[in-house]
Amino acid sequence: LSQDIVRIVEVGPRDGLQNEPKLLPAAIKIELINRLSETGLQTIEATSFVSAKWVPQMGDNSQVLRGIRRAPGISYPVLTPNLKGFESALEAGAEEVAVFGAASDAFSLKNVNCTAAEAIERFKPVLEAAKKNGIRVRGYVSTVVGCPYEGAVPPQAVVKVVTALHEMGCYEISLGDTIGVGTPGSMRKMLDEVTRAVPAQQLAVHCHDTYGQALSNILTSLEYGIRVVDASVSGLGGCPYARGASGNAATEDVVYMLHGMGMNTGVNLDKLIEVGRYICTELGRPTESKVNRAWKGP
Ligand code: HMG
Ligand code: MG
Repeated sequence: LSQDIVRIVEVGPRDGLQNEPKLLPAAIKIELINRLSETGLQTIEATSFVSAKWVPQMGDNSQVLRGIRRAPGISYPVLTPNLKGFESALEAGAEEVAVFGAASDAFSLKNVNCTAAEAIERFKPVLEAAKKNGIRVRGYVSTVVGCPYEGAVPPQAVVKVVTALHEMGCYEISLGDTIGVGTPGSMRKMLDEVTRAVPAQQLAVHCHDTYGQALSNILTSLEYGIRVVDASVSGLGGCPYARGASGNAATEDVVYMLHGMGMNTGVNLDKLIEVGRYICTELGRPTESKVNRAWKGP
């Protein structure tokens, strides 16, 4: 694994801030993204084009996407659940979007008001429109090991959605342990099946840390050849439609682990630590990153 390159997908400005009770002004979100752009991250998920009635925290999506300073070589994807979201994202200048499905119907109904299969149908026109406009599409699958409403999720249910997104043209599919219940045991059972259906080079992992398993689960996914890891600066976030879900693996902790293994992320940890401290000060909350808490410099 040493010397291998891992791309981090920073999801703090979206997954992080969508679930923070404190509503931040767009200017702070823009500042956060601009500062993240200086750390060496190559992918920064900026916001989501969902209904502001459902997720008021993302109600300033256009303002944020238009307001950021786009650094060369960095991609700023945004979530688009349907064609309406895609059209708004395009108008605001999105160059990459993400559609998000789920492996369990109960979660899908709470999250996007339709079943998992119906959500896939909504993605088809999004993928078509994206292709016409030269926009790259990432795919997410939520509840890949456990659902807050249905409990354990069978790996075959994940395979079904991952395969559909792959065949539809998503360039990469991120496997979401939405409520952080996975362990290396359940992750292996899931990854055994999923990596048989879609090559590891087109997969990413998205581990929430609710049960403190995120780093172990990420390490497990590296063993399967996955080299794209979603993480949230200072461990911000959760999902508003998965009660009790805590934030993603903290980006600082993921980068620290990967660098310790001799892997290359291109991220400057010192700069990232500063950004984590900045956003936690703005939110008036302590960091969820253990590395950030302990950091005294390189
Ligand atoms: P719906 O109510 O079923 O939609 O919501 P609808 O098509 O029936 O339309 C109802 C109203 O919403 C209409 O407005 C539409 O125009 C409007 P009205 O006529 O009443 O004024 N509408 C929209 N407005 C803005 N943006 C849109 C949009 N679409 C319709 N794109 C919908 C369906 C998907 C919109 C809704 O359920 C929604 O916004 N859900 C939010 C889901 C969400 O953001 N969840 C969190 C992100 S997913 C996540 O965190 C998991 C992830 O991190 C991976 C993991 O951890 O596993 C990715
Ligand atoms: Mg998430």
